[in-house]
Amino acid sequence: MTKDRLIMKAIRREETPRRPLWIMRQAGRYLPEYRNLRKTHSFKDLSQSPDLSTEVTLLPLKRYPLDAAIIFADIMSPLPALGIQFDFDPGPVVANPIRSQKDVAALMPSDPEKLAPEVVTALQQTREVIPEETALLGFCGAPWTLAAYLVEGRGVKDFPTLRGFAAAQPEAMNSLLKKLSDAMAMYLINQAKAGADAVQIFDSWAGILSLNDWEKLIRPHLQTMLEKVGEAGVPRILFLQNAPHLLDAYASLPAEVLAIDWRINIEDTQKRYNTHAIQGNIDPAILLQGADPTEQAAKQLINKVNPIGHIVNLGHGILPKTPLESVEALIDVVHNEKIR
Ligand code: CP3
Repeated sequence: MTKDRLIMKAIRREETPRRPLWIMRQAGRYLPEYRNLRKTHSFKDLSQSPDLSTEVTLLPLKRYPLDAAIIFADIMSPLPALGIQFDFDPGPVVANPIRSQKDVAALMPSDPEKLAPEVVTALQQTREVIPEETALLGFCGAPWTLAAYLVEGRGVKDFPTLRGFAAAQPEAMNSLLKKLSDAMAMYLINQAKAGADAVQIFDSWAGILSLNDWEKLIRPHLQTMLEKVGEAGVPRILFLQNAPHLLDAYASLPAEVLAIDWRINIEDTQKRYNTHAIQGNIDPAILLQGADPTEQAAKQLINKVNPIGHIVNLGHGILPKTPLESVEALIDVVHNEKIR
């Protein structure tokens, strides 16, 4: 029964027999079976086929007793519905970056049915086969993080073209963010209808603007998007990365869970925003060092963070060179903690 899914209990800040755990990018390149599949299929092939995407979503769960499946897709997956073309090398590379109001106006109005139908199908298929007690998570990129790739054209340190565009053409930026947030609200609601128990909004590039600019440019769109998803009854996990200066701002947005990276003091955050559940926040770099440092980091985390409303995760995606023993060590620490 849904009420027994640990992550859902933690989201509601109810007591759990142990803390729930999932890992950002848990279906990625640190898994030998994923690397094997990548020998014969491109990332695009894997993510665009509902059957392959379901298969990859299940890989980490076959190996480990994780408390959630996160659907194997990318933040870019729903963007073809807006007329955007891109490839991966290894991150997203956009064919025609958006650089003017005219480019924004040319985006197609998003038909909810066309927003990554392969992801919607993969969610339905995954729900049919995962254990009843495992939560299913959907996700999307936050409007700003999507805009980062659309304007810059690809991932570039600190996204200078994006920041310049936002400053020089704020109206065009504003219409772009509005189109993205409308589309993403629909997309997340579709994912919940297809079986996602909760959704994570990845604002990986949240931190590159000042608080003032964030308030003016970004808050209104994130706020509206999150409200629409909340009104549809879908629990929201809001992830911000490299943005300690924006923590108060994000904590004031409507979301059930605040997901933070390792730069942020998690116990202070938990005390300060005790209306939210909290997710995080082991530095993924520690796992590269093997089982012992991972075990220590995991023990430190559970010692300092109150278990009520804590979802254990890393502070960002697991890195491709992570040894499997580190993942096992993390799981062991979480599973061996007896809360009651
Ligand atoms: O968490 C999961 O296991 C679900 C799958 C998932 C992927 N991308 C698969 C993927 C999720 C949740 C994402 C989100 C995503 N994609 C984000 C937000 C999270 C974050 O890491 O900050 C961002 C910024 C992207 C954009 C993106 N896609 C990048 C930067 C890259 C390349 C570099 C990298 O980190 O792997 C991708 C490609 C991508 N998306 C891969 C995977 C497994 C690697 C593909 C491969 O080469 O096999």
